[in-house]
Amino acid sequence: MAMTELNLVLLGPPGSGKGTQGERLQEDLRLPYYATGDILRAAVREATELGRAAREHMDRGDLVPDDVIVGVIGERVDSTEAADGFILDGFPRTEPQAEALEGRLSELGRGLTAVLLIDVSDDEAVRRLGGRRTCVENGHVFQVDFNPPERDGVCDVDGSALVVRDDDKPEVVRHRLDQYHDKTEPLVGYYDGHSLLRRIDGAATPDEVAERIRRTLVTLRLEADEAI
Ligand code: AP5
Repeated sequence: MAMTELNLVLLGPPGSGKGTQGERLQEDLRLPYYATGDILRAAVREATELGRAAREHMDRGDLVPDDVIVGVIGERVDSTEAADGFILDGFPRTEPQAEALEGRLSELGRGLTAVLLIDVSDDEAVRRLGGRRTCVENGHVFQVDFNPPERDGVCDVDGSALVVRDDDKPEVVRHRLDQYHDKTEPLVGYYDGHSLLRRIDGAATPDEVAERIRRTLVTLRLEADEAI
């Protein structure tokens, strides 16, 4: 393979399946996976300084301030484990975050390989998040209609309790979608302008969406080979 690094961003509205696909990609590609939502929720649970700075924003469904999150990701992309690439989920989410990431990567002599936009309608996102159940111990995710656990309220993987995330309450979901359209969706044009954007139709089963992503990555590799 001629592509030496695979530096990927997963972009898309709440509920589009970034986490679901990110977990699979992490296994398939054997690259570190950095999901800012997971990182922030862990910080809230552990009541660290980061968690204290993030909590009230997250509960309201607002984005946390850029300066709170930029350093967290800057450190990770500069780590030894990310030398061959990384998968970012939930970052960047604003134009200043995108510029900060670009700046950090270019200091390291690197750049993004592609930004995968997983596209779903607001109605589909609301439907999915209304039935999402998340395991309290390790964040494993289920969906009561599309991917139910074997036993109600119990995680199939580790047996811990399944709960509704605080920000999955219907009124907060609507606010998160507004925030997405207002602050994050402009990144679609930004990355299109940098020729990095790849659109994936997310309105299909998780297996089908994974297959669409796989095909996109194969195309990226072919294009990289042809460019040599
Ligand atoms: P975060 O945790 O990143 O939330 P999000 O972007 O809103 O994404 P979600 O986790 O809701 O959805 P997802 O796309 O991962 O979907 P999933 O795979 O779970 O962020 C939370 C908060 O942290 C933010 O609101 C903000 O406050 C803060 N934050 C994080 N990053 C930040 C940043 N960079 N800057 C500022 N603030 C930041 O799927 C959803 C459901 O659908 C699941 O139940 C799943 O089982 C099901 N599902 C998945 N795929 C399918 C399918 N194909 N068909 C049917 N069901 C499916």
